[in-house]
Amino acid sequence: MEALRTVSTVAPPKVITAHLSKPLFSLSFTQKRSKSPLLNLTQFTKSKFTKFNVISPSVWTQPAAPPEEETEPDTDEKFDWFSHWYPLMPVCDLDKRAPHGMKVLGLDVVVWWDKNANQWKVFDDRCPHRLAPLSEGRIDQWGRLQCVYHGWCFNGSGNCKLIPQAPLDGPPVHSFPKACVGVYPSTIQYDIVWFWPSTDPQYKDILSKKKPLYIPELSYPSYAFQTYHRDIPYGYEVLIENLMDPSHVQYAHRGIISAKEPR
Ligand code: FES
Repeated sequence: MEALRTVSTVAPPKVITAHLSKPLFSLSFTQKRSKSPLLNLTQFTKSKFTKFNVISPSVWTQPAAPPEEETEPDTDEKFDWFSHWYPLMPVCDLDKRAPHGMKVLGLDVVVWWDKNANQWKVFDDRCPHRLAPLSEGRIDQWGRLQCVYHGWCFNGSGNCKLIPQAPLDGPPVHSFPKACVGVYPSTIQYDIVWFWPSTDPQYKDILSKKKPLYIPELSYPSYAFQTYHRDIPYGYEVLIENLMDPSHVQYAHRGIISAKEPR
């Protein structure tokens, strides 16, 4: 598939450029098919930036001044990749009985169902003890996330509730701040779990200030919809290039999706 061979000219964030053995980017799709020809999710608006070259008819009687350098629009504005909500996984693809590990923006996260809070939770996928992936663990009978290595258990707030090896009459080491797991803010929108990629406590209530992307068309009753998730072994910019290139469909997807017969 040519999308795998395409070289991107868009610089991805630094954390994505690292060589990773797992897929770089996980996609959660909400696919809605329009029943109305008037509604189209792929409409584009015309750019506001139009460049004009003006040639003056005047006759110069003095030597012309050297041409001024053209001022380009400022394109240096930094995009903060870690100040946005990201879709993680459609709820329909998650099993409440087990933790699910994912990598997004170079971050290893674990999504799990907190039955006590009746919510999906997103944690840093590293146990604070010896950094074992919590996604390899289990949900215990009390609905806590249990590490597979030494059995430490965490509640939905990331607090350690049990260190099995700690003596019962010893100091309450499980309550030490260093025994807590990093918790990412998370929410559900369009039947997808979204997360905010920072465990810094200052973002704990970020949802009250900033919401995940809102796409009004997805709320139209005239759209049917379907969600699915797929891991792909390349960055988002390669996928976007691929999706904006419909001329490949009848060749690269021949016999898979309906399209005109190739010439
Ligand atoms: S690494 Fe998790 S309990 Fe030891």
